[in-house]
Amino acid sequence: MRHLIHSRDISRSDIEELFRSADELRLSREESLKGRILACLFFEPSTRTRFSFESAMHRLGGSVIGAENAREFSSASKGETIEDMMRVVSLYADGIVIRHHEEGTAARAAHASQVPVINAGDGIGQHPTQALLDLYTIWRERGSIDSLQITIVGDLKNGRTVKSLLWALSQFSNISVTLVSPSGLYLPEQVRTELRKTSLVIEETEALDPHFQTADVVYQTRIQKERFADQNEYERYKSCYCIDKAGAMKMKATSLLLHPLPRVDEISADVDDLAHAAYFRQAENGLFMRMAILKHLLG
Ligand code: NCD
Repeated sequence: MRHLIHSRDISRSDIEELFRSADELRLSREESLKGRILACLFFEPSTRTRFSFESAMHRLGGSVIGAENAREFSSASKGETIEDMMRVVSLYADGIVIRHHEEGTAARAAHASQVPVINAGDGIGQHPTQALLDLYTIWRERGSIDSLQITIVGDLKNGRTVKSLLWALSQFSNISVTLVSPSGLYLPEQVRTELRKTSLVIEETEALDPHFQTADVVYQTRIQKERFADQNEYERYKSCYCIDKAGAMKMKATSLLLHPLPRVDEISADVDDLAHAAYFRQAENGLFMRMAILKHLLG
């Protein structure tokens, strides 16, 4: 693994090695990236991903340079290509984390860079480090990923975390996935066709019941407001699957409720105290998983 662009590129053994490494780093004070520099280029808003990458780099003894609004405050605003930018930034840093509004840009960036590039989200494409922290959370909370029934809910058309998660899950065995979304927000046909060639058993429906109650893991997602050209259409979908406390209490006792965050109204705040609600632990795991990823790629 030289770059991390698509979840398809990570093998099961790499994923399991990252789990073990994240567990070790959670407890250690090692500074294995001392003297190394990470460049963070964010062309789209971010809280968790950017802060956890930056915190991870600092915790490993390294330092960070970056642009949090690269669309406006980098030379991209003057018309510089991503290729030229990467060619130059990779002379200044030992690794690059990039989030971009256009699908495929992270792959172009990797092609032009002399140092490892990590895709922190490219448009509606991929978000592989989120998938790794999602799986790490399931692994920590349930002990294993094989033989799970997972229900994925929300904006599957525009959500990149879902696509990355599905590819990462396809490395494991005996996984059945129920995709729950309004028909206008189904997983894109091309992604579905490619995923059907993997071992995943995939079912699609518009109905949250009974898949919500029977799942081992429910992965709720936000309707991606910023991807809708027509905001009236967004308003129509906005609150299509809201999980409240009464609903969440119908989950199986050992089931997990995950969400990549940020949430809007798709999980109400009164769910947060239930044992099922793992999304803030998931966000915390993101720090240790990103430490493991940085150590692996930059170390
Ligand atoms: C996600 C993203 O940016 O794709 N956020 C994140 O990185 N945790 C999910 C989202 O924005 O809905």
